[in-house]
Amino acid sequence: MILSPSILAADFGILAEQVKEAEGAGAQWLHIDVMDGHFVPNMSFAVPVVETLRKYTKLFFDVHLMIDNPEEYIDRFIDAGADGVTFHIEAVKDAENCIKMIRKRGKLVGISISPDTPVSAVEPYLDKIDMVLVMTVYPGLGGQKYIKAMDEKIKYLREKTGPDFKIQIDGGVREDNIQDALDAGANVIVAGTAVFNDDIAGSVKRLMGV
Ligand code: DX5
Ligand code: ZN
Repeated sequence: MILSPSILAADFGILAEQVKEAEGAGAQWLHIDVMDGHFVPNMSFAVPVVETLRKYTKLFFDVHLMIDNPEEYIDRFIDAGADGVTFHIEAVKDAENCIKMIRKRGKLVGISISPDTPVSAVEPYLDKIDMVLVMTVYPGLGGQKYIKAMDEKIKYLREKTGPDFKIQIDGGVREDNIQDALDAGANVIVAGTAVFNDDIAGSVKRLMGV
């Protein structure tokens, strides 16, 4: 499994320090939640934060765009240091174009589906992308409860894609439910509040089962 701690739950005043602690404990990716106040009601951070953070860590930057018109920003996030870009299928008119933009830059391509979006929305693109992000909470906020019914989407996608395809889950992952998600077939796990707490290194290690 790949653990992708979400910095949305970090202490932004000491962001680099906290990210380095997660990296030192063995996390492989860093999940960067970009919110625009349109696609989701909240706003978070954008390009300058990614650019700054890039100087402090070698972690794989897993950028989750919760924004309308992602095609306008894909290149800018890649210029800032994104290694992978995930956009929401609900936010785009032309998914093929977004896929091409990310692919052209040689980065990992992800498409996300919100809880009310059926898996069928991403099925036409499965052979063109590297990852599907199954939202296990409604996007826009950390610290919500894992929606168990999403396990069915994970299982279906795993059957459709095969063992190496990346199925990422995001929202409500804790030490006591991570195993269920892995059993369903998820292999890239986002965790915000379950990592960025008083014991970042210990939380990373426990979530990774080491
Ligand atoms: C929610 C974000 C998540 C969030 C997860 O919209 O996409 O990445 O940070 O937070 P937790 O792990 O606390 O549910
Ligand atoms: Zn996210």
